[in-house]
Amino acid sequence: MQLKISSLIVASVLLVAKANAYATPAGHEFIAPTSTDQRSPCPGLNTLANHGYLPRNGANFTVTQIMDAALGWSVLTNPYIQLIIYLEGFNVNWDGILVAAKFGLLSGSDATTFETMGLGPLALHNLIEHDASISRNDFGPDGLGDNVHFNETTFSTLANANPGKNYYDPVSAGLVQRDRLAHSVATNPNVTNTAKEFKLRSRESALYLSIFGDPLTGIASKEFVQIFFREERLPFAEGWTKPTTLITSDTLDPISKIVQSASNWTETESCEPLVLGSGIVL
Ligand code: HEM
Ligand SMILES: *[C@@H]1O[C@H](CO)[C@@H](O)[C@H](O)[C@H]1NC(C)=O
Ligand SMILES: *[C@@H]1O[C@H](CO)[C@@H](O)[C@H](O)[C@H]1NC(C)=O
Ligand SMILES: *[C@@H]1O[C@H](CO)[C@@H](O)[C@H](O)[C@H]1NC(C)=O
Ligand SMILES: *[C@@H]1O[C@H](CO)[C@@H](O)[C@H](O)[C@H]1NC(C)=O
Repeated sequence: MQLKISSLIVASVLLVAKANAYATPAGHEFIAPTSTDQRSPCPGLNTLANHGYLPRNGANFTVTQIMDAALGWSVLTNPYIQLIIYLEGFNVNWDGILVAAKFGLLSGSDATTFETMGLGPLALHNLIEHDASISRNDFGPDGLGDNVHFNETTFSTLANANPGKNYYDPVSAGLVQRDRLAHSVATNPNVTNTAKEFKLRSRESALYLSIFGDPLTGIASKEFVQIFFREERLPFAEGWTKPTTLITSDTLDPISKIVQSASNWTETESCEPLVLGSGIVL
């Protein structure tokens, strides 16, 4: 109930808010990738690369670089000087994405690369990349399913969600997940749908709701979310700045829970419990 009341208040504030355009931080202008730049199935990492928070060529970056880019500031320390560099990332704290980033290190095929990854290999099916995505098609053999690039047809479920409102919320995000999974189950004989994909998908929904809205309610501007998915661009010109509330596991989890219950999920296959680190079991 508490959440419902504050959600309504935020919704009405969003409705009347007049957008100011913000300047894109110097050096972090949006530049669309060239044909030799790597990009991934992740709109979040692609956006960070398109703004130069990750290497613009999408190659050879570390877990630490992802953490700094996602948070939006970086502490450089050497024996003589400690420098705090403020950037304009997402205000997502390391604990919200660390498991995914560590998983990412497994995507490369070069067994001698221990510490860096690139965006291209993150398309590896069923590592992090999963079926029933909200903006990409399911993986399929011989390029049948393009699981990497944004697809407007696939995205139309989210684009048309929460009709009559100018915001998305955790319930609308859950309904999108429900419909996208139903589509995959109906059309993809090889669909993978275990608790692992369910948790990943719900976390991803909580991330877009939090970054482009209020991380405490998950109410997010439709305009900002759509620009993010369609263009992989931060909508500074349209009035977005990174949320002032730090986005952590503690803020993401309650939003994921609402998304999950609205998505009416049942597993069609089960997997063994995933142990992802001390105290982290999915
Ligand atoms: C910086 C914060 C991040 C944000 C805002 C973010 C956001 C998202 C969103 C919204 C999706 C869903 C795309 C869809 O269903 O169409 C997604 C998918 C994905 N993310 Fe991220 N992500 C972040 C961090 C990461 C990290 C650290 C990794 C791993 C290194 C990662 C790897 C992936 C991959 C491989 C997918 C594809 C899953 C699929 O098949 O849809 N992401 N991400
Ligand atoms: C990867 O980046 C590191 C530093 O960030 C650099 O030392 C190394 O030479 C780079 N490797 C390649 C293959 O570009
Ligand atoms: C499902 O997987 C099988 C075996 O890998 C493959 O032959 C088939 O083409 C796949 N079908 C689809 C629709 O992905
Ligand atoms: C987008 O997805 C639709 C439906 O899955 C498919 O028919 C279409 O060919 C895809 N478009 C592109 C450009 O890949
Ligand atoms: C919820 O899932 C159950 C079992 O899969 C299904 O029978 C039911 O129709 C679903 N309800 C909604 C509202 O989607």
